[in-house]
Amino acid sequence: MTADTAVTVRAPAKVNLQLAVGPVREDGYHDLVNVFHAVSLFDEVTVRWARPDPAGAAPGRIRVRAAAEGLDAHLAEVPLDGTNLAARAARLVAREAGLDEERSRVDIRIDKAIPVAGGMAGGSADAAAALLACDALFGAGLDAEALRRLAADLGSDVPFPLLGRTAVGTGRGEVLEPLAAPGRFHWVFALSARGLSTPAVFAEYDRLRPDAPEPRGDDALVQALGDGDPAALAGALSNDLERAALSLRPDLDRTVRAGRDAGALAGIVSGSGPTCAFLAADAHAAEEVARSLEESGACERALTAHGDVPGARIVEGAEKDAEGAPAGR
Ligand code: C5P
Repeated sequence: MTADTAVTVRAPAKVNLQLAVGPVREDGYHDLVNVFHAVSLFDEVTVRWARPDPAGAAPGRIRVRAAAEGLDAHLAEVPLDGTNLAARAARLVAREAGLDEERSRVDIRIDKAIPVAGGMAGGSADAAAALLACDALFGAGLDAEALRRLAADLGSDVPFPLLGRTAVGTGRGEVLEPLAAPGRFHWVFALSARGLSTPAVFAEYDRLRPDAPEPRGDDALVQALGDGDPAALAGALSNDLERAALSLRPDLDRTVRAGRDAGALAGIVSGSGPTCAFLAADAHAAEEVARSLEESGACERALTAHGDVPGARIVEGAEKDAEGAPAGR
């Protein structure tokens, strides 16, 4: 597909159902067994040709808007220059399409519903969305493998939002194998006002676990997913980074306990944090847990979502009113 003016792509957040972390490698990364599960919090990335600039120097603009309550304070943490992963994605696709800088200048708008620096791979979702959007806008015609390769170059968590659903990631997390997860799981995500740096959490992990063993998969988790059994899945959730995140942010312990006390089947730090994820028995229970969490004061805002959901998709009728609301979740 090629597009004349603008393309909008919607990409999901993830929660890690298992995050097993091995010792630090020579390249500074860690081997992982990382079970990604896509949930119904979506960022939307709209890429449009930048207006011709007479000076010829200004790069395309990046704008970010909050598309969910509680995210306004997060927006300040999103880089609005060429270091933004979505902008880097646009440059990679332009290179593949043989477009020079002048002919690939785009404005990027990100409607954020995924917490920023929250351990839910929001930046990775934006990068995956930008890859798909630019592929369409530039008429690059990249196939799934080419997109996956560019995604892996952008970051360990970027290939997953292209794929969506549930998948196990090995290597540094970028080598994906889909996992069957029939049924629908209901989640609550407790947002934190401040983000956590992923490298800082991994560094803390190395400090706390200098003797980390090689990461291994968990058969009980795979079984629980295949059975669509939330109680069994709750018992199998695990995150090796949780201790490190709690060490850097001891206040999260209260949030995890508050969610469990509110009736969640399980509570866990999501990825490198600081978002805390709670699995609920059903949609009604999830709403109750979210309400109790907010009332307890243990978090500012709790969002409900379900999983799994598909990966990044071009939104039909991609061109939206500039001031219009983004498509709902
Ligand atoms: O791959 P990405 O650039 O998103 O990773 C961000 C940071 O997270 C890395 O610089 C590294 O500190 C840490 N990381 C890691 N091992 C992984 C994935 C990420 O140590 N498998």
